[in-house]
Amino acid sequence: MAKNLASRRAAAQQLASLRTAGVTRVSRSARVQKVAAEVESPASDARASNVSSEPTTAPSDSVGTSLFDVKASGLPRAEREERLRAIAARVALCTRCQELARARAQTVFGVGNPEAEIMFVGEAPGADEDRLGEPFVGAAGQLLNRILEASRLKRSDVYICNILRCRPPGNRNPLPDEAANCREYLDGQIELVDPDYIVCLGSVAAKNLLGLADSIGKLRGRMLKHGRAKVVCTYHPAYLLRNPAAKKDVWDDMKFLMRDRGIDLSSQ
Ligand code: URA
Ligand code: URA
Repeated sequence: MAKNLASRRAAAQQLASLRTAGVTRVSRSARVQKVAAEVESPASDARASNVSSEPTTAPSDSVGTSLFDVKASGLPRAEREERLRAIAARVALCTRCQELARARAQTVFGVGNPEAEIMFVGEAPGADEDRLGEPFVGAAGQLLNRILEASRLKRSDVYICNILRCRPPGNRNPLPDEAANCREYLDGQIELVDPDYIVCLGSVAAKNLLGLADSIGKLRGRMLKHGRAKVVCTYHPAYLLRNPAAKKDVWDDMKFLMRDRGIDLSSQ
């Protein structure tokens, strides 16, 4: 009985995530059914229960070969969208982090332009994102929108995602195992969108993406590198809500990035 309820709840949760990820015709999508079948195989269930013993090894229910084996650069927009949707469908069914999978209302994959020049990477969904299925839609998201506007960017120009695709209970920081479990999805998004620039919002993003434990204060103002992308680190918008004086620094960081793209924002 309890098991039944739990699996019904899980099914509802997966449908919500799939719908938000743009997978609206679940019953007609052979790819989604195939993905669902693979993820629900007993082998991946068994693995999900002991992922924490192997934090640095990518789980072997790897999405790698089937979904983003081709270097994305040069892929047409529709193909990128399709492959991103396929990864989102995987994510919606993901139970690698059992605590997060049980607690989430839905997964929060990413949003924006699949051909974005600039990708923003935050930490993890909060309560609003968990409810709505989209990253950065709460108070921090409103501030991020204002930062984008001031930088003459629209939300739909850029791509926005997080280190984690599930909300940690009580908004605690992501655990290293959780970041490792979710890394493959982030890598897939980076590979497919293939941005010229990645902005790490806060130290959780910088630490997990770049493996650098330095504070944001130390990482700011430097043009770092991840694969092909140039990386700029700046303060997290939630930090700015608590420390408004640091907004000027974020503005400087956006001017730094835009200047590298040949755009001078200093007249604003
Ligand atoms: N904070 C984050 O890091 N990500 C979100 O999506 C929302 C708030
Ligand atoms: N510490 C963080 O984790 N993030 C920030 O943006 C600033 C300080």
